[in-house]
Amino acid sequence: MIRPLLKKFTGFTLVLAIVSNIYIFTYPSLFPERCSWRCASQPSVVGATDSMHVGEKVLYYSKRYVNDLMRQWKKSHEETQSSPADVHLMAFGDPQIKGIWRNTPYVTRLDIFGNDFYLGHIFSTMRNRLNPTHVAVMGDLFSSQWIGDSEFFNRTMRYTKRIFKRDTTSLENIRNDSHDENGLYKNYWVQFADEFKRRLTEEPKTLGFGYENVHTWDPEHEDYLFINLTGNHDIGYSGDATFQHMSRFHQLFGKDNYWIEYDRDTDHPWRIVVLDSMLLEGPPLQQEFVNATWEFLLQLFEQRFEGSTVLLTHVPFYKKEGLCTDGELFRYYPDDYPREPYKQNLLRSQNHLSEDVTKRVLNLIFDNGKPGIILTGHDHEGCETVYNKDSKTGDWNAAKTMQSPDFHVREVTVRSMMGEFNGNTGLVTGHFNHETKTWEWSFSLCPFSIQHVWWFTKVVTILSGFLLSALLVT
Ligand SMILES: *[C@@H]1O[C@H](CO)[C@@H](O)[C@H](O)[C@H]1NC(C)=O
Ligand SMILES: *[C@@H]1O[C@H](CO)[C@@H](O)[C@H](O)[C@H]1NC(C)=O
Repeated sequence: MIRPLLKKFTGFTLVLAIVSNIYIFTYPSLFPERCSWRCASQPSVVGATDSMHVGEKVLYYSKRYVNDLMRQWKKSHEETQSSPADVHLMAFGDPQIKGIWRNTPYVTRLDIFGNDFYLGHIFSTMRNRLNPTHVAVMGDLFSSQWIGDSEFFNRTMRYTKRIFKRDTTSLENIRNDSHDENGLYKNYWVQFADEFKRRLTEEPKTLGFGYENVHTWDPEHEDYLFINLTGNHDIGYSGDATFQHMSRFHQLFGKDNYWIEYDRDTDHPWRIVVLDSMLLEGPPLQQEFVNATWEFLLQLFEQRFEGSTVLLTHVPFYKKEGLCTDGELFRYYPDDYPREPYKQNLLRSQNHLSEDVTKRVLNLIFDNGKPGIILTGHDHEGCETVYNKDSKTGDWNAAKTMQSPDFHVREVTVRSMMGEFNGNTGLVTGHFNHETKTWEWSFSLCPFSIQHVWWFTKVVTILSGFLLSALLVT
């Protein structure tokens, strides 16, 4: 009596498990255009389905899905290698991983644990599919800047190992060298602070901002360049960023401001600029940080670079209310702030850079008039804007469309990779056009789905495993 029922139920969960696994491992094939690099030859088929019946649409989308799967299978899409090779940058918005505390309920713990693997699934699927040349995480790696060193280290381990599948030996070595009496990671930031101040005051200022032609930090393990950006949840806004925040970020994730120039003395130079946009305005807690960021921009300007620029930064540039989800907002600590009196009146948070700072930064970075693209994070929802330059006044006006005949740059606020926002991957393709002698940049956003779909898949897979073995033994 029970056996036929069990059989039916097992069959049912097995089918669910198979279908959902196929889905989570092949989801980019459902949106082949949005989930691929842009090819120069790629035809645009916007609106192709508008006049179709439901049946035709189903057929169209199934065909597109299957075709993409076949292409992946054969990897026959090995694009005719252009020269110089296209730039393929994958951008992940604000993962904001949370921590587990003593009083965290068990369900939440499970959720946080699973979330690491959900994010890791997105990264692995996209990396295997697309072989990026660069991977950038757009800041707000963690959910809070107010955590101790040991927790900061533990989240770095999760970020490195579970999400981005990277080698953790160097992190373990750091912990072996830098720990407290219980062997837990501790950052000894005083030395960092002394060194930082010394470098900032000596002439010339040797803050070590520039690199050239770096294609990977770790040639033994990977063939793409991994870029960690810092966000307000990693080091804080300028009103609360301390040397401790800065020192541990530098030790575990690398610099917050730097540039990498590629192919400088060719006809196709381009560069990546990583800018710490939390430390441009104030009033700051440590004026040194703001000074260092402006020093960075000045040195960058003085490079007199002739190529195209990909600017990566966390806080978006100034724009009028209504263009994106977030409007302009600046908050300051109050006059009277007994909890942390030393923070009185300091900058507490900001949604955008101010109008004036936006103008100065864009003029310093996009001074050579070569096309580029800006990627930011911070607002989670995502947005695309165009910064139109008025070359007479040097003002930059944000709009939905290109308006300035003089010069414009597109800013893409990358939609978050968190489950609530459907686990997105941003794809930037840079292609060098030999006729115009310029780099052309395009962006697309590849969505996955809410984390519950991933959870469901894991649960039905395990359940069907149990049921199958139960059937076999009864
Ligand atoms: C970090 O991880 C270590 C090892 O698992 C653990 O002993 C330590 O308590 C963790 N730190 C915090 C703040 O939870
Ligand atoms: C970025 O962070 C990861 C994880 O800590 C690390 O493996 C990698 O080396 C960092 N990148 C740089 C440039 O330091």
